[in-house]
Amino acid sequence: MAEVSTEERAAFHEMTSGTATDWQRIGASFAPFAKALPDRMLEHLRALGGDYGGYAIDRFHHSLQTATRAHRDGRDEEYVVCALLHDIGDLLGPYNHADIAASMLKPFISEKNHWMLEHHGIFQGYYFFHYLGLDRNMRDRFRDHEWYAYTLEFCDKYDQNSFDPEYDTLPLETFEPMVRRVLATPKRSIYLAEA
Ligand SMILES: [Fe+2]
Ligand SMILES: [Fe+2]
Repeated sequence: MAEVSTEERAAFHEMTSGTATDWQRIGASFAPFAKALPDRMLEHLRALGGDYGGYAIDRFHHSLQTATRAHRDGRDEEYVVCALLHDIGDLLGPYNHADIAASMLKPFISEKNHWMLEHHGIFQGYYFFHYLGLDRNMRDRFRDHEWYAYTLEFCDKYDQNSFDPEYDTLPLETFEPMVRRVLATPKRSIYLAEA
């Protein structure tokens, strides 16, 4: 990241002495920083490459394959981007990876897709929790939830089956413009007046 001169930076060392000028300067650097969010997300997604975690394909290609299946099944752009980024928390959140994708995408996606991302880890557990001594039906606690079937479908159709090295997976370039469009405008944030 480029060095910024002191004239472009806030003068305060404690927020209690902050001024309007300070916050104009901070505000001015936020816009380009926020605009580059898709680049940072894509860079982190690429960082999943080469990390197999014991699976037949690495986490980056699992992500691409999940998005490819959703895209080929005619899902809308926001859904495909959720599919692409659903495991982006794998590196930094080994004990709660689903929370990370859900939190990162929360400002940009519907509550329904956010719920799906947040809970996909438990729903995906249906396919393997019993091998770990856990209850594969843990997802049943959400059986009456309005988005239970929606989340179950994500795992069933796109996630649990995306470990196939022979599948014709689309490259990241196919999804990049979608990521940029979905992340272009936040809908929910404490920094937005209407939130
Ligand atoms: Fe996952
Ligand atoms: Fe996954």
